[in-house]
Amino acid sequence: MTSGACPIDHSAAGGRPVSANAAAFNPFGEAYQADPPESLRWSRDEEPVFYSPEIGYWVVTRYDDVKAVFRDNVTFSPSIALEKITPVSEEATATLARYGYAMNRTLVNEDEPAHMPRRRALLDPFTPARLAEHEPMVRRLARDYVDRFVDAGEADLVDEMLWEVPLTVALHFLGVPEEDMATLRQYSIAHTVNTWGRPSPEEQVAVAEAVGRFWQYAGEVLEKIRRDPSGPGWIPFSIRAQRQQPEVITDSYLHSIMMAGIVAAHETTANAAANAIKLLLENRAVWRELCAEPSLIPNAVEECLRHSGSVAAWRRLVTEDTTIGGVPIPRGAKLLIVNSSANRDERHFDNPDDFDIRRENTTDHLTFGYGSHQCMGKNLARMELQVFLGELTTRLPHLELVPGQRFTYLPNTSFRGPEHLWVRWDPAANPERADPAVLRRLTPVRIGEPSARAITRTVTVQSVEPAADGIVTLTLADPSGRPLPAWSPGAHVDLHLDGLSRQYSLCGEAGEAGVYRIAVLREPESRGGSRYVHERLRPGARLSMRGPRNHFRLATGARHYVLVAGGIGITPIIAMADAVRAAGASYEVHYCGRDRATMAFLDRLHRDHGDRLHLYPGSEGARLDVSTLAGADDGTQVYACGPKRLLTALERQARSWPEDTLHIEHFTTTRQELDPAVEHGFDVELADSGLTVHVAPDQTVLAALRAANIDIPSDCEEGLCGTCEAPVLDGEVDHRDRVLTTAERAANSMMLTCCSRACGSTLTLGL
Ligand code: FES
Repeated sequence: MTSGACPIDHSAAGGRPVSANAAAFNPFGEAYQADPPESLRWSRDEEPVFYSPEIGYWVVTRYDDVKAVFRDNVTFSPSIALEKITPVSEEATATLARYGYAMNRTLVNEDEPAHMPRRRALLDPFTPARLAEHEPMVRRLARDYVDRFVDAGEADLVDEMLWEVPLTVALHFLGVPEEDMATLRQYSIAHTVNTWGRPSPEEQVAVAEAVGRFWQYAGEVLEKIRRDPSGPGWIPFSIRAQRQQPEVITDSYLHSIMMAGIVAAHETTANAAANAIKLLLENRAVWRELCAEPSLIPNAVEECLRHSGSVAAWRRLVTEDTTIGGVPIPRGAKLLIVNSSANRDERHFDNPDDFDIRRENTTDHLTFGYGSHQCMGKNLARMELQVFLGELTTRLPHLELVPGQRFTYLPNTSFRGPEHLWVRWDPAANPERADPAVLRRLTPVRIGEPSARAITRTVTVQSVEPAADGIVTLTLADPSGRPLPAWSPGAHVDLHLDGLSRQYSLCGEAGEAGVYRIAVLREPESRGGSRYVHERLRPGARLSMRGPRNHFRLATGARHYVLVAGGIGITPIIAMADAVRAAGASYEVHYCGRDRATMAFLDRLHRDHGDRLHLYPGSEGARLDVSTLAGADDGTQVYACGPKRLLTALERQARSWPEDTLHIEHFTTTRQELDPAVEHGFDVELADSGLTVHVAPDQTVLAALRAANIDIPSDCEEGLCGTCEAPVLDGEVDHRDRVLTTAERAANSMMLTCCSRACGSTLTLGL
């Protein structure tokens, strides 16, 4: 090289120019170590796939690209996932050899066709049903460790709880003895530095010594278990499985997963817990919410994993010339896929830097990876995090970060969590001192991905005003004055009223930002919900609310809208009328009622919708003739909400209209209990995960997927909301939801897994 020549090897970059940002990228540098996603903001915006001369890797930073790489484990081989990112010195290699170190393929880094048969053979201990058996052990450990410092007033949570509890859980889960915890801790750190860190040549030898001893220890424990593999735990299970399938589960494989399993089950969870508690205490208002409403914990855990997960990046090897995000990548290239950056990609998550525990799509995060190599222990980690947060929010709600502390992180590319987390509190204010019953309060744990059903918020009733005979309007607000989230026409909320859950459409006016308005009809047959609202609810009352959710969305761009309401069904319809008017669309509103005195919002409707409004008060002899509605016209969309009689008449009429013209608000499902005498079982092949899951006659696809450890979001679980949608690649679907249109059903490209089934014996899904 002549002096002044470019120092960058462009051939490795596929001959492409290396930008100044790419040349400066260093995952061991201060910026990445302090905040990986922030340090790569420039990349997500300008150069989402780039070559890093510093490490000799291609770096992938956007959500879609990272997911695409995870999804295709043939083009993007996981074989380098555990390769040392910093080349090993000869001396360190010799040290490892002295210990007979032979870390082989594990579930993390092996290619097909070996991987999936092994994963399948070893999966059972990770299923939600098996994991539930560990919950008492995790709770007991969390309780014991908090007992040790609860009266101290100050603690380093990492040293005094978060490192050791996940380690002990990992050991229990694996079925190995609890001894040598202090030594194991050192081993575990050494393994991380050995694989993902940049130790100096002198450090490398010390690290190699510790890794070598770790390897030896893992071998000794394995031998001990092999002598009697009848006990509980993943390793005894694997040894038993080896007897059935010796060619699939080999000796060296068991030794490797024994050691890698300890690290995988322990360190990632310890780091995730420290990150989560730090993040929550930095967001004090959210911490307080969790203390007041523990049912939010599963969602908070998920948002912590998205926002500040413990796995920052992962690696893959490119096996054939390909492209990622349109950038050509040569065969043999190494990829650093930065899942922590993907989790902050604004192309997938709205306001991704905000910490929002009610974020609708937070479970889309890639902290556990995706596809056939997705973290098998993810639900164990979720359970541990929920138990820790349940214990701390119950017993130490007054916990705060010790101010002024500097957080340090073990320098490496992939695993991330503060090395120390100092917190303090006033022991005199510990709730259990005033009320020991606090200790009996158990926060329920959800095993698996959280459901949107669990997300509730507290609202205050700001006003209760009459809207018509037998109808009151409630205005609901956040108790702290923060604006409630934006909503769209057709959305509803679920209110918990005197032990009952009731759904009400939002009907506020534009300009009422931050508060919600609902109208409640006093039902003569009320089982309590509407009677409670009319008789007992007063301004200042606090209610638990879920939502808003929208199963009745208004499509944009129709040539003409026909909006039909009967009685209290005016609530979603008035919001839709306001929206189409604001959009300048062509529309008409038809509103039926018993008499004018019982019809809500008449003044507002007259004021805002003038001659578009058609009223049908029955007492005046006015009747809506649905056959006169302009639904026969292509480009017209009809939206209706009201009594069953009206909706049935519209459904009958809609048979003569173009397909998918009529949209009806459904609050109830037609779904029946599954009768095994009538239903048949079938197989669901998962193309991305490489699994086949059997769905029993009395089981939903959603339940079968969850039992097999496959994450799939859900909300209503009644075929009403569309949350549990999955792409269909092959096989005919027996659609039983009330969400998909006739055209969508005919296309057979998606299904709702909470209710729909297979017509035949097999379905293939893009999961
Ligand atoms: Fe709502 Fe399946 S979860 S449709």
